[in-house]
Amino acid sequence: MSGSLAVVGLGPGNPDTMTPEAATALALADALYGYGPYLARVPARSGQARYPSDNREEGARAAAALDHAARGGKVAMVSGGDPGVFAMAAAVCEQVEHGAEAWRGLDLVIVPGISAMLAVAARVGAPLGHDFCAISLSDNLKPWPVVEQRLDAAASGGFVMALYNPISRARPWQLGAAFDRLRRHLPGATPIVFGRAVGRPDESVVIATLEAADPAIADMSTLVIVGSALTRVVERPGREPLVYTPRAVKDASA
Ligand SMILES: C[S@@+](CC[C@H](N)C(=O)[O-])C[C@H]1O[C@@H](n2cnc3c(N)ncnc32)[C@H](O)[C@@H]1O
Repeated sequence: MSGSLAVVGLGPGNPDTMTPEAATALALADALYGYGPYLARVPARSGQARYPSDNREEGARAAAALDHAARGGKVAMVSGGDPGVFAMAAAVCEQVEHGAEAWRGLDLVIVPGISAMLAVAARVGAPLGHDFCAISLSDNLKPWPVVEQRLDAAASGGFVMALYNPISRARPWQLGAAFDRLRRHLPGATPIVFGRAVGRPDESVVIATLEAADPAIADMSTLVIVGSALTRVVERPGREPLVYTPRAVKDASA
């Protein structure tokens, strides 16, 4: 019996934003692996086994799921947002490259999902409407000087930035340090969007400026979008402002 592994993006939190392809992949699996809170989002089905694990165990979780599939299981690994964005798809690929030879022969499918940066951007308008990049502020998997180099390059290159993993209990200072770094390059009026738990019942969205941005607003469920010099905030009567980055760059210095 040949097994398979689907690495499935659940989207940002609201079940409505999970794709039909993801729902089908989950329904076909006889075993589900994933970080406990993400697994809890998937409705239980009888006969489907669940293997929840802790947040920091991605490598071991990926290896266990591959091993299960190699023994003939139809396995799905759940991932928040999109599995290819700072998430489980890369952890699985790392194990396929460095782990058991049999894992290379497995039927492996990556099922995309709506990433947090897309969900947060959609709440406020179109801040990612022109060139942008995504940077994880976590220095668990890369040294902090690398984060600083990338912030410098993105800001001086005129990119809008989606900052993932901005802060956690174990990493309390990184977002404040990132804002200080960005203030070297960007005007104080640069729009900042804090999107917290978007798509979940405790969602909140705050629009600020780089000058006034308070890192304490963010937690580990927050994605921060930093505008470029071109990003606009459009006030609207009786409605939240629109934040967007125009599609055209007219001035070569922008
Ligand atoms: C390990 S990364 C996983 C990203 C995920 N694969 C994705 O595509 O959204 C976790 C980070 O994603 C962001 N994030 C995930 N879900 C979010 C949501 N519903 N609202 C805002 N940010 C979210 C936060 O920055 C969080 O610290």
